[in-house]
Amino acid sequence: MKFVWKGIVAPALALTIGLGMTLSTPVMADPLVPDLKKGERVFKKCKACHTLKEGEANKIGPNLYGMFTRGVAAKEDFNYSKAMRTKAPEIAEWNDETLAIYLKKPSKYIKGTAMSFAGLRKEKQRVNVIAYLKQETAPAPAEAE
Ligand code: HEC
Repeated sequence: MKFVWKGIVAPALALTIGLGMTLSTPVMADPLVPDLKKGERVFKKCKACHTLKEGEANKIGPNLYGMFTRGVAAKEDFNYSKAMRTKAPEIAEWNDETLAIYLKKPSKYIKGTAMSFAGLRKEKQRVNVIAYLKQETAPAPAEAE
């Protein structure tokens, strides 16, 4: 009797778990809508080390102006770690994906990075701060003539 039970319970359990995952997937895949205000608040964690606007000074970390177009570890007057310079060609550019991985846990993505920051554990924080960075580090719109 025991033997028969195992044979029924296991597949039934597998089916239940499988079904549950299928049903909850669409909810989990919902795109997160970035909130710039919240992104600005998250950036407070970065402010001690980073500036955002053109011509502003490097601090402990590089000024981030133009970071989405200039390439990785590409600010000429900043002394990046060897770890970051070595990994830069592989990362190729900062975008939603590469930044999300880096900011989740910098020391894991770039072993030996000089950025001593634990990381942003929550996906929402990452999405919000990336949107904020995009807005704040872009060149100002051309002046109207
Ligand atoms: C304690 C200082 C510190 C904090 C806090 C910090 N950073 Fe950094 N960051 C650095 C340093 C230093 C580097 C250069 C890393 C290297 O050379 O290994 C860096 C590098 C970067 C780069 C790569 C820049 C480039 O030119 O390729 C990005 C992007 C970045 N940080 C974003 C952030 C964001 C966003 C936060 C906040 C969520 C943050 N950092 C928090 C110090 C910091």
